[in-house]
Order: sequence, then C-alpha cells, then structure tokens
Amino acid sequence: MSIRVRLLLSFTIVLMVTIVLFASSAYLITIAVTGDVRSFSDFYKNHYKLNPLSKSEERIFLELKELAKTDPEKLMDEELLSDYDFQLRMIQAGLYVRKELKQVFVSPSLREPNLGAALPDYEMANNQIRNTMNYGSRFFAYAKFDFTFPDKDRGSIYVLRERSPFAEMIRKLFPILIGLLLAILLLMNWLLFRLITRSIIKPLNGLRQSAEQIKDGDLHFEVKAQSNDEIGQLCVSFEEMRRQLKHSVQLQLQYEDNRKELLSSISHDLRTPITTIKGYVEGIRDGVADTQVKMDKYLDTIHSKVISLDRLVDELFLYSKLDLKRVPYSFEHTDLGRFLEDITEELRFDLDLQGIYIEGTYPDSPITVVADRDKLKRVVLNLIDNGVKYMDKDEKIITVCVSKEETFAKVEIRDNGRGIPEEQLPYIFEQFYRGDESRSGDVGGSGLGLAIAQQIIEGHGGSIWVESQWRQGSSIYFTLKMVTNPASGSGE
Ligand SMILES: Nc1ncnc2c1ncn2[C@@H]1O[C@H](COP(=O)(O)OP(=O)(O)OP(=O)(O)O)[C@@H](O)[C@H]1O
Ligand SMILES: [Mg+2]
Repeated sequence: MSIRVRLLLSFTIVLMVTIVLFASSAYLITIAVTGDVRSFSDFYKNHYKLNPLSKSEERIFLELKELAKTDPEKLMDEELLSDYDFQLRMIQAGLYVRKELKQVFVSPSLREPNLGAALPDYEMANNQIRNTMNYGSRFFAYAKFDFTFPDKDRGSIYVLRERSPFAEMIRKLFPILIGLLLAILLLMNWLLFRLITRSIIKPLNGLRQSAEQIKDGDLHFEVKAQSNDEIGQLCVSFEEMRRQLKHSVQLQLQYEDNRKELLSSISHDLRTPITTIKGYVEGIRDGVADTQVKMDKYLDTIHSKVISLDRLVDELFLYSKLDLKRVPYSFEHTDLGRFLEDITEELRFDLDLQGIYIEGTYPDSPITVVADRDKLKRVVLNLIDNGVKYMDKDEKIITVCVSKEETFAKVEIRDNGRGIPEEQLPYIFEQFYRGDESRSGDVGGSGLGLAIAQQIIEGHGGSIWVESQWRQGSSIYFTLKMVTNPASGSGE
C-alpha cells in the first residue's frame, strides 16, 4: 500500500472517528443535562413549558387570572388591559385577550394577522396553563387562562413572552450545520492531505527518481532541498552522496585515463632503446661492424641504451611502489643544512668537471626535520640532475638554499638553465611528462624524476612546487616539517 493511500485511509478514519465522537458526546451531554434520552430542542421546549414566564410576568398573569375568576367583565375594559399591557411591555412580554373567536385586546408587539387562529383552542378545565407555541418563525412561551364571561361566552387571557427560537432554529438548521461541519472536516482533511503530499510524498518521489537516475549512471543533476525538515535533510544528504559519487566516478575515470597513458608511455619509452639495441645487434650479426672501432662504437651504444633501460625500469619500479604507497619510509631526525651540504660536496667534483658551479646557503643553527635520508637524497639528486640536464648557459650555476619558515623548512634548488615555458609548469610533476625541448633534445630521461620527487616529498607530509622563467632559470622548492624539540627522540 503506498504512503499516499495509507495517508488517505488514516485521514478518513480520523475523520469518521471525530464525527462519531462528536455525535456521541453531544448525545451524552443531552442525556446528562436532561436526564432523559431527548434532544436539545425538547429540553428547551420543556423548560419553557414548565416556566414560561418570569416572576413579574407570572405576578401579572395571576392578577389577570384572579380578575377572570372574580370579575371577568373587567377584562373587556380596554383601559385596564392597556394598563396591564404597559406593565408587561416593560418586561418585554405581551397580552392577548379573546372572547370566543373575537380578539378583545392584543399588545402591539403581538399584532400578527392570524395569531388568534394559531392560539390553542379553549380548554375550560385549564389543565394546560403553561406551554410554548410556534407562530411562523416566532417562538412563544405563554401562560393562559380560559374562563367564562357573564354572558356565557368563553374567553381567554394569554400572557406571552417571545423566546429566542434557538431550539427551533437548531432543529431546522441542524442538517445544514451537520452538512457544513462535514464539509469543513472534509475540506480540512483534503487540505492536510495535500499539505502532507506536498511536503513528504513529492520530495520522496523526487528522491526516488534521482536514485533511479543514479542507477542508470546519470550523475549530472542536482537534488534541491525544498525545506529544512527531516525530508529536506534527507535531500541534502542525498545530494552530498551524489556529489561524492560523481567525484569518485570522475576520479575513477581519471585513474583509468592515467593508467592508459602510463601504459602507452612505458611501452613507448621501452620501445625506443630496444629498437636501437635491436638495430645495432642486427648490424653486428650482419657484419656491418667490420672494424674494431665500429664494433666498439656499436657495443658502447648498446651498453648505454641498456643502462638507460635499466634506469628506466628502476625508476618505474620505484615510482609504482611509491604510487601504491608500498615503500616503507625509515624516518629519522636529520639536520637539513648538514644533509644538503654533504650532498653538494659529494657532487662538487663531478659537477666541476662539467663546468657547473654548485653553491649552498645553509643557516648556522641546525634545522632538524624528520626524513628518510635515502629517499630525500633521491629527491635532491633528481632536482640537481634536472638543473644539470637543462643547463644552457656558459656560466653554469646551481644553488641550494635552506631557510626556516614558521613550522617548516624550505629548500630551494635553483639553476640558471633554460627555464620552463609557463604553459608546461602545471604538468612537469606528472609521470612521464617531458617538455617538448627535452624530448627533442639529446638529454635522456623518462619524465619520472619530478614525479618521484613529488611522491617522496608528499610521503614526508611536505609540498613541492616550481617557479621558473623561460630562458632565465628555474627554482624547485620543497618543504619539510620541522621538529620543534629535536631532543625528543628520532623517527615518527
Ligand atoms: N630545472 C629544469 N629546467 C628546465 N626544465 C626542467 C627542469 N626541471 C624539469 N624540467 C622540465 O620538466 C620535465 C620533467 O622533468 P622530470 O625530471 O620529471 O623528467 P626528465 O628530467 O625529463 O626525466 P628523468 O628525470 O626521469 O630523467 C622535463 O622533461 C623538462 O622539460
Ligand atoms: Mg629529471
């Protein structure tokens, strides 16, 4: 059963129970008040039947009654009757006197064309003195007395008091009132139903459609929360989930693209040296290298290609291990200044031979960082290697600087080489990315140097970035967290 049908059902049941409760409580109240199983209107009528007149009216009625018994002739006296009528009028009552079918006196407020005919017939025993009567839409409570005039004509005195026709009205309007009540209840029921449908069912339907869209693989839409209530919060969570899902699908696609790209780069980078080696080996086999000099040249080339292949495989292996986070880091407290100084000193001789001057700026006080020395050395060597490879100036300078920032140490490795074109800057840390110049130039490389450096620095919790000016030189920066209290032991 759908929520909509359930709601409709429960509303209808509530409505019916309300009506039943309402009717039965009205019935019970009537019984409680009247002590009898009678309706309100009966109760109302009965009340006035027993006490139609107020005390002062009753007093006047009794006087008139007495007069009727002792001196009925006086009841033909217009002046006397007007006097009584005046007294009655003061208390909002009226007087009616008849003689047989003739009207002897009637109060102005009672002047109705056929009132005489509507009045009860003579009942000389006077059993029913007090009663109520309807005249058109008017309702009266009265006390009457029938008597005989000296000429044997029958006569009656009536003291009438008009009462609110409430009971009558209720009796007549009851069906309309009940109808109205029912209509109001039904309308309320419908309005509530619509309200709930709008605030619950509609958003739920929206969510169901969205879930179906997601099931079909469509994540390009937005679930908007229309309210702040639980349903609204559900929509917000749903939207959050959709965004996360979209993000991870995009990430997945990107990984997939990267994987494809990586595979094609690896096959390309492996194929080139292998083709060269194959060519030279075939040359030797076919006897092209017929002199010792040629033979040496062929073998040298094959050797250098095998070394570069070996290096490529090594780097690839390291990179993939770093990427999969499978390389354990052995962190220890290291004085970064001393550490870099040692590396530059170690390289100085070789670089000198290539005409490159390496200089270092290190602070006097130690800068202690937590680092895996071997991997950090790999980073520095990769960066200096780039500085050497992409050097195009006569005066070749590579500078290493260490400085203290707030909570971390910053290292800059600067060269005055050819620089990196601005449009390449966002890509140089990607695996296998090599600038066009590097691809076409005679410098070897796999495009993994900076990718490996980035993996290692991020593995240390630091960051790495580049600043470069085309034809001016490049600076690669990286940061490492500093140890504030170096005495607290080594390792992380
Ligand atoms: N110091 C630099 N000066 C100029 N260009 C640079 C410098 N460092 C990096 N590059 C550019 O960034 C690219 C990526 O560098 P990366 O070190 O990752 O690869 P590679 O040097 O080409 O190869 P590998 O380091 O694996 O031998 C380079 O091919 C080069 O175009
Ligand atoms: Mg490199």
